Amino acid sequence: MEKDIKQLKKEALEAINEIADLKHLDLIYKKYLGKKGEIAQVFSFLKTASVEKKKTIGKEINLIKKELESLFNTKKKEYEKKLMDIVISKEAIDVTRAGRVPKQGRLHPITQVQRECENIFQSMGFSVVQGPEVDSEWYNFDALNIPKDHQARDMQDTFWLKQKMQEDSKKNFLPRTHTSPVQVRYMEKNNPPIRIVVPGRVFRNEATDASHETQFNQIEGLMVGDDITAANFKSIIQQFLKRFFKQDIEIRLRPGYFPFTEPSFEIDAKQRKGDWLELMGAGMVHPNVFKSAGYNPKNYQGFAFGVGLERLAMIKYKVDDIRLFYQNDIRFLKQF
Ligand code: PHE
Repeated sequence: MEKDIKQLKKEALEAINEIADLKHLDLIYKKYLGKKGEIAQVFSFLKTASVEKKKTIGKEINLIKKELESLFNTKKKEYEKKLMDIVISKEAIDVTRAGRVPKQGRLHPITQVQRECENIFQSMGFSVVQGPEVDSEWYNFDALNIPKDHQARDMQDTFWLKQKMQEDSKKNFLPRTHTSPVQVRYMEKNNPPIRIVVPGRVFRNEATDASHETQFNQIEGLMVGDDITAANFKSIIQQFLKRFFKQDIEIRLRPGYFPFTEPSFEIDAKQRKGDWLELMGAGMVHPNVFKSAGYNPKNYQGFAFGVGLERLAMIKYKVDDIRLFYQNDIRFLKQF
């Protein structure tokens, strides 16, 4: 029996030595120290042994048990630490490492300019409204006092949709050449007082160059009431320009011509060098435009203006070629 116990201890020690991982350790532990393990078997054998044997062997087996238990414990801790080290080295986050900044998108400069204009006008009580990009000949021309065969139509070279032209101008369609058709569309459905701005895409059948694109954006303004004057226009536009360019801008109203305004003005802005830069077209709404919308022109007066968003952007950011906005060159776009 004693010899068996020595053998048992020897085997157990060898087994513990050869333990490869925690799972293996559990197996070996069970084999020797488990409820039905080798040691437990010796104890149960001792129950029926003589008092003498109980004493000597009991003592010895208890010692072996303790020794094995402490060896297992040490081994277990060792393996648990190894495992933790692996986890730490795999999952550790180096909080001192410099962060990687994710690439961020941004709004197109023209969208930014549009939103800025909208915000400024909204703060002055204007609502932002939209109109269709494809509109009828009626809204784009006739309703704005630009009849067929009138030479003013040549002011805006027009793309036409493929269609059989009809006598009724409400049945002929085109990509709008300006945002002004929305003036009449809005007045048909709303009564004064009116204060709106209309941002949107417009289309012109023109050769492109540094200052012309076939597609660009405008923001139209319309303010109508019973006593709106050119003085109102001047102060509102001055306020707008001051806030948009973040500096006082000296402007002048130069006589101009648009069929849908009377009188019409060209608004010029004074530049640092002293010369004047043409900014936008504007004027007092023509009585015929009120008539188109179903208003009695005797009751109302108002102003309208239209300005190119690209033009505003080019002046603000000193961009010298409108085409840059539409080439999608990231080196250009990321400057805004
Ligand atoms: N619609 C004109 C254009 O596109 C601009 C304009 C709008 C002029 C309103 C006067 C009043 O050129």
